[in-house]
Amino acid sequence: MDTIDIINKKRMGFSLTREEISYMVMGYVKEEIPDYQMSAFLMSICTKGMNEEETFDLTDVMLHSGEILDTSMFGIHTVDKHSTGGVGDKTTLVVAPLVASVGVNVIKMSGRGLGFTGGTIDKLESIPGLRTYLTEEELMKQIEDIHVCIASGGKDLVIADKKMYALRDVTGTVESIPLIASSIMSKKIAAGSKKIVMDVKVGNGALMKTKEEAEQLSKTMIQIGKKYGVQVECVLSDMTCPLGYAIGNALEVKESIEALKGNFAPDFYELVVFLASRMVALGLEISLEEAKRMVLENLENKKAYDVFLELVKKQHGNIDEMDIANTSYTVLSEEEGYITSIDALELAKISSMLGSGREKLDDVIDYGVGLWLLKKPGDFVKKGEALIQVYYREKMVEKEEILKNFIIEKERKEISSVVLGYLK
Ligand code: URA
Repeated sequence: MDTIDIINKKRMGFSLTREEISYMVMGYVKEEIPDYQMSAFLMSICTKGMNEEETFDLTDVMLHSGEILDTSMFGIHTVDKHSTGGVGDKTTLVVAPLVASVGVNVIKMSGRGLGFTGGTIDKLESIPGLRTYLTEEELMKQIEDIHVCIASGGKDLVIADKKMYALRDVTGTVESIPLIASSIMSKKIAAGSKKIVMDVKVGNGALMKTKEEAEQLSKTMIQIGKKYGVQVECVLSDMTCPLGYAIGNALEVKESIEALKGNFAPDFYELVVFLASRMVALGLEISLEEAKRMVLENLENKKAYDVFLELVKKQHGNIDEMDIANTSYTVLSEEEGYITSIDALELAKISSMLGSGREKLDDVIDYGVGLWLLKKPGDFVKKGEALIQVYYREKMVEKEEILKNFIIEKERKEISSVVLGYLK
């Protein structure tokens, strides 16, 4: 087999055999194929796509490039959650303990943030002392004790994705449905998930910019799941405006704690309740109504908050020592009216510039900086009223750079639901 022939075959739009896909992926893992040829191969997939069979073969080859966990000992009442990545998306921090609080096991393997999207592991690590690397024994004990752990994936799962994702990130080859679906599904299957609720984000702050693209990605992941006997349900959720109030690691943990105590931003509440209800219904095999009742009860009686505190304690974190920048300023509105939109992508870039995100995987991030929205779409704002609080340390941002991301109009627009659709 010849590397250049395979790249050319895909570049011309032909379908690849499993052997050809395996030759490329495993050749790259073994460092027999260099970055520049793999980049060309990935770009040819981005432009020409892959059919269902090729996408499945790619997933399967990637899956077998590393270890595969067996979590069957935890039984059928085990559910996983995954988000395709958004701005201010701290949902896992609330949903995982909430779902665990009703007795469903949540073994959550999470990643770090790259580019404009944040990662749950970075958010959790903003809690001083918190360990995200758990041994197999620690993980099992924690699931037995409190039904939940949030950990960084073991280093030997889906080795191909680690290498390919890092390369895609710097070669403009992230936004491709077959590449995203195979990357996500190979990791989920390797982590032993049998039931998964996916939060597929849609909008300018997400990888999928339109609902149609998000539906196509969802259908692809559901199909891949079926081939492995894995139940995948996809929730399409809006990512044109940042989710909740906070963007930035420690600030998002702070918002999650507030939410678990009962103080939710409306969009965050809607998404948390929807995702958690779906997960509980899937995990316990009960009706959605019954699942929702349990979810609302455990938010109300603070059992979900207790599980979050237990999780932090068991993973050695100390929330009393969190370091949020003590230098901050507010940006005031220069006009009066109703906020009709807040640009998620641009605010994510600003937060990242303040130090909360990384460009490369080995960049050091500042957990304590970021943004806190004081107004959300639908809110009325007076001239001179505060729109947003900026937490900074070394770098600051001009207020004009922030203000241009808020659209303020005379007429109030109907605020649409954050949940845009659901597929299974
Ligand atoms: N998340 C992943 O894990 N992989 C992708 O390719 C995109 C988002």
